[in-house]
Amino acid sequence: MTAEFFVVRGQVEKGDQRGRELGFPTANIALRDQDGQVGDGVWAGWAERADGTRIAAAVSVGRRPTYYGADGYRLVEAHLLDFAGDLYGEVLTVWLGHHLREQEAYPSSEALIAALNKDIANAAKWAVDHPAEDLPDAGDAGDGVVRRVSQLS
Ligand SMILES: Cc1cc2nc3c(=O)[nH]c(=O)nc-3n(C[C@H](O)[C@H](O)[C@H](O)COP(=O)(O)O)c2cc1C
Repeated sequence: MTAEFFVVRGQVEKGDQRGRELGFPTANIALRDQDGQVGDGVWAGWAERADGTRIAAAVSVGRRPTYYGADGYRLVEAHLLDFAGDLYGEVLTVWLGHHLREQEAYPSSEALIAALNKDIANAAKWAVDHPAEDLPDAGDAGDGVVRRVSQLS
């Protein structure tokens, strides 16, 4: 079987800090290819820190339509599961493994929070079945450029 992943590596930038207010801090990576190989959506995946530690993640690719309409710039936002810590400035590698849903413009922050809770539960389930040691090599995933990688298993 072949498993397809998207992978992107980039430096974690300061977001709007809204993620902390919502209770879901995210590591934001600017996408250099705004059109790119990967469309907007929400994914289950893994994030690898500079020290090689891998942490399961619920990942948003898009423009935060709840807050910015269609005008925002695209970014990758990874919420690392069961993680508390400062990632600003660190280079993070993010694998997108399983598409969970499309981006939505929610009517309220409360509605977004409810969706995020489901995303996190789904990402945790996916990660159990797709352990970090099975991830394909990220290769030379460039700064903010999403690449497709596959893994033969
Ligand atoms: C798993 C996940 C799913 C998300 N889904 C959406 C979405 O459907 N619509 C949306 O507007 N924003 C979505 N977001 C982005 C949030 O709006 C964003 O993380 C929040 O506004 C905090 O932004 P900040 O990090 O710049 O402070 C999602 C974020 C995550 C981590």
